[in-house]
Amino acid sequence: MKGVILAGGNGTRLRPLTIITNKHLLPVYNKPMIYYPLQTMAECGLTDVLIVTGREHAGDFATLLGSGKEFGLKLSYEVQEEAGGIAQALSLAEDFADGGSVAVHLGDNIFENHAQLVAAVKRFETSGKDAMIFVKEVSDPQRFGVATVVNKPEPTVIKIEEKPKKPETKLAVTGFYIYKNNVFNSIKSLKPSARGELEITDVNNFYVNALRMGCESITGEWTDAGTFDSLLRAGEIAHRSQKSA
Ligand code: DAU
Repeated sequence: MKGVILAGGNGTRLRPLTIITNKHLLPVYNKPMIYYPLQTMAECGLTDVLIVTGREHAGDFATLLGSGKEFGLKLSYEVQEEAGGIAQALSLAEDFADGGSVAVHLGDNIFENHAQLVAAVKRFETSGKDAMIFVKEVSDPQRFGVATVVNKPEPTVIKIEEKPKKPETKLAVTGFYIYKNNVFNSIKSLKPSARGELEITDVNNFYVNALRMGCESITGEWTDAGTFDSLLRAGEIAHRSQKSA
């Protein structure tokens, strides 16, 4: 399995911080944001990692991260010409994946507990599932993809809604996904959403409807870092977990 970190997008919710740089290069406590998903990938044993980013700051990622040697990783880079959505960014990883499975990490997501992701990556190929999502109960589900899960006989996702006005549950779909290689075919059948993007939630619902989606509840803290408040929270989570390490 290979790793893919999606670090494109315009970061508009963080302006003026993102006028002259990419969101994933902003500091989260004592490191650039992109270091956290890189660390998750390294702990998962996924040494071959592709970073997808936007055109404007692609060079800055290479300057900061180089070959990835410092992290024990072999990094490749791909440019997403325009922010056409998370699924569109993922589609750029098809050649890189070379027929195999991929673990996908949104570049603005911070997980406190990596052990669970490490175990899920190890188990995936023999899990009988084609895709895996990780959910977390949150107080503001309207900001996220929201999963409806029934526990019969194991946690089973029956529906995911992207940023619903009236969420059915408080279970946010976090930004770590594992997919078999057929994900690239499913992306090819997608149509842009009302906001003009190819949505990762539509990809995930493809697997939900085919009964091929696995789901785990995340233990430990999790946040995105795409708004001022969540960026602050990401720093606090990073601070706490580094102090207690
Ligand atoms: O954080 C988890 C949430 O991320 C999920 O619950 C949602 O289902 C999912 O749609 C996404 O929601 P956001 O609207 O918060 O995603 P955002 O546009 O902030 O993009 C998340 C990351 O994906 C961002 O760090 C960069 C990358 N991205 C995004 C877009 C739109 C790209 O690489 N290219 C893109 O075109």
